[in-house]
Parts: sequence; C-alpha cells; structure tokens
Amino acid sequence: MAIVVTVCCMVFVMVLGLNLPPRVYGEQQVPCIFIFGDSMADNGNNNGLVTKAKANYQPYGIDFPTGATGRFSNGRNTVDIIAEFLGFNDSIKPFAIANGRDILKGVNYASGAAGIREETGQQQGDRISMDRQLQNHQTIVSRIANMLGNDSATKSYLVKCIYLVGMGSNDYVNNYYMPKFYTTSLEYAPEQYAIVLIQQFSLQLRTLYGLGARKVALDGLGLLGCTPKELATYGTNGSSCVQFINDEVQIFNDRLRLLVDELNSNLTNANFIYVNTSGILATDPALAGFRVVGAPCCEVGSSDGLGTCLPLKAPCLNRAEYVFWDAFHPTEAVNIITATRSYNARSPFDAYPVDIYSLAQL
Ligand SMILES: *[C@@H]1O[C@H](CO)[C@@H](O)[C@H](O)[C@H]1NC(C)=O
Ligand SMILES: *[C@@H]1O[C@H](CO)[C@@H](O)[C@H](O)[C@H]1NC(C)=O
Ligand SMILES: *[C@@H]1O[C@H](CO)[C@@H](O)[C@H](O)[C@H]1NC(C)=O
Ligand SMILES: *[C@@H]1O[C@H](CO)[C@@H](O)[C@H](O)[C@H]1NC(C)=O
Ligand SMILES: *[C@@H]1O[C@H](CO)[C@@H](O)[C@H](O)[C@H]1NC(C)=O
Repeated sequence: MAIVVTVCCMVFVMVLGLNLPPRVYGEQQVPCIFIFGDSMADNGNNNGLVTKAKANYQPYGIDFPTGATGRFSNGRNTVDIIAEFLGFNDSIKPFAIANGRDILKGVNYASGAAGIREETGQQQGDRISMDRQLQNHQTIVSRIANMLGNDSATKSYLVKCIYLVGMGSNDYVNNYYMPKFYTTSLEYAPEQYAIVLIQQFSLQLRTLYGLGARKVALDGLGLLGCTPKELATYGTNGSSCVQFINDEVQIFNDRLRLLVDELNSNLTNANFIYVNTSGILATDPALAGFRVVGAPCCEVGSSDGLGTCLPLKAPCLNRAEYVFWDAFHPTEAVNIITATRSYNARSPFDAYPVDIYSLAQL
C-alpha cells in the first residue's frame, strides 16, 4: 500500500509539477473570486510599494509562464491553482492593476508581509494590512454596484462569489517572533495572542460578510516552525521543525476552526470553511516525492525578514523535489498539493465542514 501511495504521488507531483500552461477545467463554477492574504497569495500588489517584501525579480517566477510577477514562488500560488480548478482561464488580477470589467471576475488584494494586525510587517516597509484590503474591497464593491446598476443585483452577484482568505502568518513571523521590532511577545502569552488575533480577525470577517461575502474559505496557518527561516533563527535541537512555533501557531488554528462554527451559526446564510493547511502539509514529504525539506531552493540573504531569494542567482534545478522555494515560501509543487486537497478534500480533516468544491456548489 505504501508503495502504491508513493508511486501515485510521485507521478502526481511530476506530472503536475512540470508547469504546463494553465489548464482549462470546463465551465467557470462561480462568477468571481476575491482573495485576501499575504505573500502566500500576493501576485503583484507589493510591486509598487516601498518595502523589502517584494518578489518581482528573477529567480522568482522561473516556472511561471510570464516570469517574475510579484508571486513569492517559482511558479503558481495556491490561489492561482484553486482558480483554475474553479474553471477560471486567467488568474485573478491584483488590486494594483485591476480595472474595467476585470473586477467582475474578482480581485486579489493580497500583500506580502501583511497581517491581521495593522503594525505587522512594518519592519519590511509598506504593506496592505487586512483592514486596508477590506477598504480596497469596499472600493471594488462600489465599482461593481455602478456596473450592475442597483443594490439587489450587486448583492445577488456577490453572494455567488468565492472568497479566499489566508491571514495570520505574518502576525507570528513578522511580529510575535521578532521581539527586536515588536512588543507583542512581551504583552501576550501564546494562548492570549491567539485569542486577540482571532478576535480582530472575527471583526474583519464580519466586515467582509457585511460587504456581501457568503462563501468564505479561511486558510489555517501552515507549519511555520518548519520553514528554513525559523530553523535558521531558532535551531531545532535535532528535530526537523521548531516545535514550540508549530505548537503556538496551532492554538490560532484551533480557534480559527471554532470561529468557523461561530460565524456560520451567528451570521445568516454564511458559509465559512476552514482549510486545514497544517494538516495537509504534515503528510510525510518523502511520500509526496520531496527530497529536500528544510533548505530553500534559491539562495537567500540574511534570515532577518522574509528570507527572500537573492536577485539573479540561479536556483536549484530539481524544484519539484524541494518543499521550500525560498526561506519561507513553498515551491509550486507544494502549492499544487495544498490547492488540490483544499479543493477536493482527500480526507474529512482537510477542509471543514466542506471543501472548496462543495462550497462553490452551494
Ligand atoms: C476559457 O477558454 C476556453 C478556450 O479558449 C473558452 O472556450 C472558454 O469560453 C473560456 N472560458 C471562460 C469562462 O472565459
Ligand atoms: C436591478 O438590475 C437588474 C439587472 O441589472 C434588473 O433585472 C432589476 O430589475 C433591477 N432591480 C431594480 C429594483 O431596479
Ligand atoms: C532546545 O532545547 C532547550 C533545552 O531543552 C530549550 O530550552 C530550547 O527552547 C529548545 N529550542 C527549541 C528551538 O526548541
Ligand atoms: C454564536 O455562535 C455561538 C457558537 O456557535 C453560539 O453559542 C451563540 O449562541 C451564537 N450567538 C448568536 C447570537 O447566534
Ligand atoms: C488537521 O489535519 C490533521 C492531520 O490530518 C488532523 O490531525 C487534525 O485533526 C485536523 N484539524 C482539524 C481542525 O480538522
């Protein structure tokens, strides 16, 4: 059985990791996708900002059809792949350049280094926090309302869209675990910090609901303690991850799962789901065909900050065998697995209470 699984998954990674042009999956399942997030989903919003958190230079995008775009990976982000699964021919445009009738298909507001908290990521420079992403969404909703002509048409359009939200990683790695720049770790114990983050996130998600969102997928945080950046900062005492970071971040994830129940029972017609990113990524990487787990594929600079690739340095060649592209962000090969299992859950643990495919059909 183990052999069958290994063979199946290696083939899977190899076939899908070749970076063929975007595949067409038939009819578009929803009219629009709105994306809120950080560098895991940013596809160009930081390009024009004054910040160190940028990825619009080589070798980023080496496996992306149009090269470096601002995506913090070698190829597609998880949200790009989910959009393909949902039948979108083109990726969702970044807010920075979305205009005209583009916005009827949705907008990507994600910004590298951004967090739930306003101050998060500020040591990197400018970024578009969750609150500002919501303000940008409000602007877009008004523009859509102008195009569609009246409020009831706008409302019934927006309820059909999928909203993908992945926030919170930077509130840990570019805030809580940077005591040199932030005081949160002095103010809050890990349990309390997870609580204040979830309280603020809850208000933000209610704002999103107020702007017409009904089908909302919330990404749990990944295994932040396993990133090359945190391994370099904290060391591991011989294990392959910084266990205390994974444990503290899991408190946030557990509460986010509970928040899904609360929002679904408190908000009329709300359909929030939790995507179990850390559970999906906890699958033994070797079983999925990965050979290099704790080291980045590209050459990275100082471990202070996002751990981005040094410009113009040639990255590793066997990118489908690496879990990490730079010191913090996964390769496209990993993004394919995350997207596939959040769209079509392989077990009931992958997405709660339903997966993104089922969310779209509601
Ligand atoms: C996607 O592209 C295919 C092939 O070019 C086309 O037939 C289809 O109508 C497109 N779908 C959408 C939703 O634009
Ligand atoms: C709103 O607009 C839609 C189409 O855009 C139209 O069918 C509907 O009658 C309009 N409703 C009102 C109240 O004007
Ligand atoms: C490594 O072990 C020491 C002593 O047990 C402990 O204080 C420290 O927190 C551990 N470091 C990590 C990164 O887990
Ligand atoms: C909100 O949700 C919680 C948890 O599901 C539930 O206990 C509470 O009664 C709900 N409150 C309202 C006002 O619906
Ligand atoms: C997430 O996935 C892991 C591994 O499958 C599982 O142990 C855990 O219970 C899941 N968490 C939730 C909230 O479903």
